[in-house]
Amino acid sequence: MKALITAGGKGTRLRPLTHTQNKHLLPIANKPILHYALEKMVDAGIKEVGIITNQEGDEVKEALGNGEQWGLSIAYIPQEAPLGLAHVVKISQDFIGDDSFIFYLGDNMVVGGLKKFIKAFEEQGSNCHLTLSKVKDPERFGVPELRDNRIISIEEKPSRPKSKFAVTGIYLYDSTIFEAVNNIQPSARGELEISDAHQYLLDHGYSISYSEITGWWKDTGKPEDVLEANRLILEHTAARQNGDIDDKSYVTGNVVVDDGAKIINSVIRGPVIIGKNTIIENSFIGPFTSIGDDCIVRNSEVEFSLVLNSVEILDVGVRIEGSLLGTSARIVSSSGRPQSNRFMVGDQSLIEIA
Ligand code: DAU
Repeated sequence: MKALITAGGKGTRLRPLTHTQNKHLLPIANKPILHYALEKMVDAGIKEVGIITNQEGDEVKEALGNGEQWGLSIAYIPQEAPLGLAHVVKISQDFIGDDSFIFYLGDNMVVGGLKKFIKAFEEQGSNCHLTLSKVKDPERFGVPELRDNRIISIEEKPSRPKSKFAVTGIYLYDSTIFEAVNNIQPSARGELEISDAHQYLLDHGYSISYSEITGWWKDTGKPEDVLEANRLILEHTAARQNGDIDDKSYVTGNVVVDDGAKIINSVIRGPVIIGKNTIIENSFIGPFTSIGDDCIVRNSEVEFSLVLNSVEILDVGVRIEGSLLGTSARIVSSSGRPQSNRFMVGDQSLIEIA
């Protein structure tokens, strides 16, 4: 079995962070999202992985290389434009050949391994095995209609969903999926939809089985999803303290303090991860916060946030919460006159002032 992982698309909903970085490389608990996907492939015993890249694909190639770090062989498959997930499958036919494969959306995160889904697919001998997860907002996803524990139809982002389930970004296929992706037409939004390929399979008598994901699953498409994924991963991260924590600091709960980091006269309430060579001084870092490498947080409070590398948060009088701070961002207090707030904000940024 091979694997196909997406790392293309536009990432528009995560701007401005994705202006300068591919969204699949955004760190969750200080590790790029795509690493989690690759680790899942290794755990499932997969050796050959194809990664779909967009026009800026070099960044992904540089970050992952040929895969030997994971004992994988990685092939990169460029997609000229984000023409849809069925298009992704279509252009990967040469790479997949006659094998069965797992199609994994690189921006999805799921707890637990993939083996159980592979096993269910193989045991049921279906042409396609989908993974479903109950969600509050099915209209954002591919949605199955179920009858007597069977999928009888699938719609992409329906305004009136026929169930509470989302089809998640973990799909298993045999090669009949290529017949489907080669025979469907682009949707109203101009994409070859994976849901239409699934509907094609159903309409042509092919079998679709499914498993329900009962643990958590997240599509990290939106900022709040990224924070939530960060929270969930931190909850499962084991404490490790390699940096220096001085006697005046108080560290509780699940806290990772990486090599070279310094915690000075501060309170860290886990789950929290503090990256390499980061300095936290006279500050409070609250639960579900990831602080990247080479950051400085001084006389400030940060909670439930994702802070990327080389960020400075200095003397900020209000608690920073529910925030995503991109690489090298600086939030500092100004002491000069007139007393005012000064912003140097990139395109499509968001600032909410209390
Ligand atoms: O997350 C699950 C959902 O993913 C499913 O329920 C939907 O049926 C499916 O269409 C998809 O919906 P999204 O709107 O979330 O897809 P998105 O455009 O965010 O792309 C998902 C991944 O695929 C992401 O890694 C970007 C990549 N991609 C996307 C497109 C459209 C590509 O590499 N190429 C593309 O052409």
